[in-house]
Amino acid sequence: MLGPVQLGLLAACVVLFVPMGMAGWHLSRNKVLFFGGALFITLAVVVHLTPYFPSVFDFVTSVSSSSSISVNVVVDGRDSCVSLLHEIDWEVKPSRVFDPSNNNSMNYEKVWSWRRYSSADSCEFQKLKRHDIMDLLNGSWVMVAGDSQARIFALSLLSLVLDSERLEYVRGSLFKRHSNYHIVFDEMGMKLDFIWAPYTTNLTNLVMDFEQNRVYPDLLVMGSGLWHMLHITNASDYGDSLRLLRSSLTSLLPISSDFSTNGQVIGSVSVRSPHLFWLAMPTLVNSMLNTPEKREKMTNSMCGEYERGLHDSNMLRQFGGLLQLVDIGSLSWSCGTRCTEDGMHYDGVVYEAGVHIMLNALLIESHQKL
Ligand SMILES: *[C@@H]1O[C@H](CO)[C@@H](O)[C@H](O)[C@H]1NC(C)=O
Ligand SMILES: *[C@@H]1O[C@H](CO)[C@@H](O)[C@H](O)[C@H]1NC(C)=O
Ligand SMILES: *[C@@H]1O[C@H](CO)[C@@H](O)[C@H](O)[C@H]1NC(C)=O
Ligand SMILES: *[C@@H]1O[C@H](CO)[C@@H](O)[C@H](O)[C@H]1NC(C)=O
Repeated sequence: MLGPVQLGLLAACVVLFVPMGMAGWHLSRNKVLFFGGALFITLAVVVHLTPYFPSVFDFVTSVSSSSSISVNVVVDGRDSCVSLLHEIDWEVKPSRVFDPSNNNSMNYEKVWSWRRYSSADSCEFQKLKRHDIMDLLNGSWVMVAGDSQARIFALSLLSLVLDSERLEYVRGSLFKRHSNYHIVFDEMGMKLDFIWAPYTTNLTNLVMDFEQNRVYPDLLVMGSGLWHMLHITNASDYGDSLRLLRSSLTSLLPISSDFSTNGQVIGSVSVRSPHLFWLAMPTLVNSMLNTPEKREKMTNSMCGEYERGLHDSNMLRQFGGLLQLVDIGSLSWSCGTRCTEDGMHYDGVVYEAGVHIMLNALLIESHQKL
């Protein structure tokens, strides 16, 4: 990204060299001075006005930041839109039936939207309707694997496609503790699996099974970390486990190109390889955690170390990896403490925002216009 110092140097060079270049084109000394002065004034005005036009500045920074993290050679609008997917604003206000004796998250209504009047506007992100989601996921095998966050994420996805009666039924069975869940939607030829996999090693085993059996879902969403933090509490060990997962995913992927050369395209989402997403850990509110053990082990500094472990594992797309981030950490942080009861599990609406981010990322990836 260009800092103010570089910008200043650039401006100085322009003021100095453009008139000198013009002098080469046989302009008189007075004209050179005139051009130099005019340029200087224009640049000074631009530099001083820029902070008052945040959208221009956002645009400049988003373009330059997306190009610096992008591993693709081609930088186009789609890449910069992916980097803007998490630009979400929350409106959290007391609900009409506010109960002052019971100061919990149920007392607050939350609405989210992509940030308006920002560069995210031009990406035209949308909260997909049921019909659009069915179109997008038609014929796909979706798998969500991980801990309780992943379970809520799976439920949020289902709540966007199921009618309320069926959803109540699913909610009951999906919330049996520590179990897997499988559901088939005949009307859209889609199936969804939730796999209980609280540790990264469980995810690695899952991926190794795919490799062995040469079958894998079209869309795979994974996430883990909370259990490791509570029961093992060792960030460097967590980082190691992520690197193992990364390498088993890397060895899975070449298989996908075999499949695509066979022309085996199952759903509209499954073009070449599985679409991979990583659910980052939520923002933990230490004082709200519901056991002394959690409050002692899951501290802010430990959360920071675990985040670094994820970053350093290079699993994520923006660091050269394979998985696209669904940043529950930033979504839960921006929703705030009124969106959680226990400082760890957030209201469904936070995960719903994550689902919409994932669906929009899929839309961008599959170049699909609805
Ligand atoms: C309710 O909780 C919020 C933080 O979530 C706090 O700022 C506020 O003081 C609390 N109100 C009462 C009445 O306890
Ligand atoms: C799913 O795709 C099939 C054919 O590929 C089509 O017949 C069906 O109408 C689609 N269903 C939905 C819900 O889009
Ligand atoms: C997940 O991994 C842990 C530790 O490696 C193991 O004890 C546990 O049985 C596994 N759970 C599942 C559901 O595979
Ligand atoms: C943390 O894990 C690393 C790598 O697995 C290990 O070398 C180290 O001894 C562990 N630290 C503690 C305090 O257990």
